[in-house]
Amino acid sequence: MTTPATTPATPTPGPADSLLVRAARGERLDRPPVWFMRQAGRSLPEYREVREGTTMLESCRRPDLVTEITLQPVRRHGVDAAIFFSDIVVPLQAVGVDLDIVAGVGPVVEEPFRSRADLARLPELTPDLVPDITESVRLLVAELGATPLIGFSGAPFTLASYLVEGGPSRNHEHTKALMHGDPQLWHDLCARLAQIAGAYLTVQIDAGASAIQLFDSWVGYLSRADYERYVRPHSARALEAVAGRVPRIHFGVGTGELLGSMAEAGTECIGVDYRVDLLDALERTGGRYAVQGNLDPALLFAPWEVVEREVRRIVDEGRQAPGHVFNLGHGVLPTTDPTMLTRVVELVHSLGDDSA
Ligand code: CP3
Repeated sequence: MTTPATTPATPTPGPADSLLVRAARGERLDRPPVWFMRQAGRSLPEYREVREGTTMLESCRRPDLVTEITLQPVRRHGVDAAIFFSDIVVPLQAVGVDLDIVAGVGPVVEEPFRSRADLARLPELTPDLVPDITESVRLLVAELGATPLIGFSGAPFTLASYLVEGGPSRNHEHTKALMHGDPQLWHDLCARLAQIAGAYLTVQIDAGASAIQLFDSWVGYLSRADYERYVRPHSARALEAVAGRVPRIHFGVGTGELLGSMAEAGTECIGVDYRVDLLDALERTGGRYAVQGNLDPALLFAPWEVVEREVRRIVDEGRQAPGHVFNLGHGVLPTTDPTMLTRVVELVHSLGDDSA
């Protein structure tokens, strides 16, 4: 007779039971989970060291580097979630778009997208085009244990803006000209980008990501009417591709006027930039969604007393939400003193009883 293997009375908690997943799903917790957009990157000396001699895009496609860089802020700051180290243009590169990420500038596309013929240069994304992403996520999930990994994608509008402008843009004039001048081509372009974003998120979830964030960084440049007509249906398609699998966070910058609309694109958690109070964000989204945010990243350059007061205020406001994920209101600025980030994590952790 064989002795049955002993099973623990309670299963070991995994990332699916993490504070991040629970808060983003809309559970009120004793204290919010905390992570930072752009937590991996230039604010860390250990990041600058491993990136030495390797381009940004190469780094994003090498599982050994992706794993190391993603883990760095988890080790250093003790954040409650890891964000996959990559860039929003990686899936575009994977389908064959000729682009580069230029230091201090951002993504630059060799031949901007301007006509119907350009659609042929943007095939659908299939998992076989990104085996390295699957491998990186699997390696990370094995290393992270109970700490959840957040996968992400750029949203159709933000991706379209880089493709159409050919690089970062202040006014998005070519993008808006295409949107209004040839709406059919615009919708066809965004439908393809929604497929790419949805497939890219699916690859990350299939490999073990516990939550996802859709970044629509530049959508705050649109009016609500244009957003709802030309953009939201495509963001909704991308989000729909992963509905019901893991909690979804939907974030953009300067989106005070769009928050209600963005929430309705299909999300469990709405990302709030630093310009909008969490209480206003709750009102604008009908109190029906978890919120993520929203310390102003520039405040990390102010004296600690200021940062502490703001963190406490944001955590207090977040207690009114169905769920709150503490974050900055946009990415960590490269010259941020990393010890400030560690102190913010320690403070947020001290505001609840982690044993509860
Ligand atoms: O830590 C993390 O948040 C994960 C990594 C991450 C990067 N880019 C790494 C990166 C994530 C989530 C992104 C998403 C991304 N990329 C967005 C959406 C988020 C946002 O900030 O609104 C956007 C708009 C991009 C496009 C992009 N890529 C920009 C504007 C830049 C900065 C250009 C510069 O050099 O100032 C990049 C490059 C980039 N992506 C860096 C990093 C760490 C810097 C590259 C380097 O270290 O040399």
